[in-house]
Amino acid sequence: MSAKFDKYKKEIDRSTFIRYSDSYLNSLFGSTKVAPLWVADSDFIVMPELVKAMKKVAKRGLYPYELKTPAIKQPLIDWFTKRHKIKLKMDGLLFTSSVLTGLAAAIDELTSEGDGIIIQPPVYNAFKGLIEGVERKVVFNQLKLVDGAYEMDFDDLKKKAAEKKTKAIILCSPHNPIGRVWTRKELEKVAEICVANNVLMLTDEIHCDIVFSKSKFVGMTEIYSGKSDQIIMFGSAGKSFGIPGLVDSFIYTPNEEYKKALQSRIMRFHLGKSNSFGIVAMKTVYKHGHKWLDKKLSYLEKTVLMIDEFLKKHLPEVKLIKPEGTYQVWLDFNEVAKSDEELSELLFKKAKVGIGLGSMYSPNGEGFARMNIASPQPMIMDALKQIEKAVHV
Ligand SMILES: Cc1ncc(COP(=O)(O)O)c(C=O)c1O
Repeated sequence: MSAKFDKYKKEIDRSTFIRYSDSYLNSLFGSTKVAPLWVADSDFIVMPELVKAMKKVAKRGLYPYELKTPAIKQPLIDWFTKRHKIKLKMDGLLFTSSVLTGLAAAIDELTSEGDGIIIQPPVYNAFKGLIEGVERKVVFNQLKLVDGAYEMDFDDLKKKAAEKKTKAIILCSPHNPIGRVWTRKELEKVAEICVANNVLMLTDEIHCDIVFSKSKFVGMTEIYSGKSDQIIMFGSAGKSFGIPGLVDSFIYTPNEEYKKALQSRIMRFHLGKSNSFGIVAMKTVYKHGHKWLDKKLSYLEKTVLMIDEFLKKHLPEVKLIKPEGTYQVWLDFNEVAKSDEELSELLFKKAKVGIGLGSMYSPNGEGFARMNIASPQPMIMDALKQIEKAVHV
């Protein structure tokens, strides 16, 4: 099994892939000669059924404007029912090209300039730019690191949610980059606070399928049902199946008013156009992807173990914050570097490993770095050895 995920096709020209592109590597790491383990994009060959389906579309020779019919949406609904026991209603589903497009549209459509939007750093760095890009104010509710695991600060959340200007929260669930899969109890508390303070819940669940065996993903829409319908969920098959450049994302809301507003925004700004390949891809992965995803999850879980063992044995100064899901790992470098300058010197110049500095993700991320592990294990092992050598020589 692992042989498939271990396979790295060298012959593929990756120079236009963002992850491998000279321009990105140079601007982020000051060099193109680093192992590119940064952006949350995977380097596994996709499931065989998907390649077959794409070939069939290619052979068709016709790529017109296409509709997302109920036949296309049904596999997505079935996936959520089977995989997560979440019931999505077909008429609550909308589509845009990406999760970030959907989030930006929702914030711009449903909040006003100057409104506060809560995020929980260390968190996916694009959220901040997105909020500021539409002239809203970022409100930080920082996560706390307690005995090697991250927790939410509910007292602070209560305070921030109660501020007059606060209108929404972007919940990252599961949470990138620290790999928490929030429990039902935690989500219940967040929901309670947001409902009590009339805070719109924007729940980014793009990583919902990347959850390891000891944890269980709980959807925020499920928690909210019965409490309130002030919720919009954002998702995509991009991370689950390693196809962010292929598929559209989806938006789900039980709230008729939000749905109408977003539908109108999508029409007015022409955000809903997709392509023939993406439509068939979504149907294929959600219909046939369960076993392939299970194998990928088990491979990723082994990769996490491999990293943990390596660090404990060879590099105990660097600590792994054990992820419960996502394919990012959050590494604590505080013992080996005292500043961002020292850490980038160590990782990018000495070790030649391109991973995201923690400060990108928050004010409280300094001293940490995020490594994308959705790559063949030999690549990850090489990177670990390079870091170990850089620390110890
Ligand atoms: C939490 C989270 N949301 C959104 C995205 C981006 O999704 P999309 O490419 O669909 O905009 C990412 C990508 O890494 C992510 O980690």
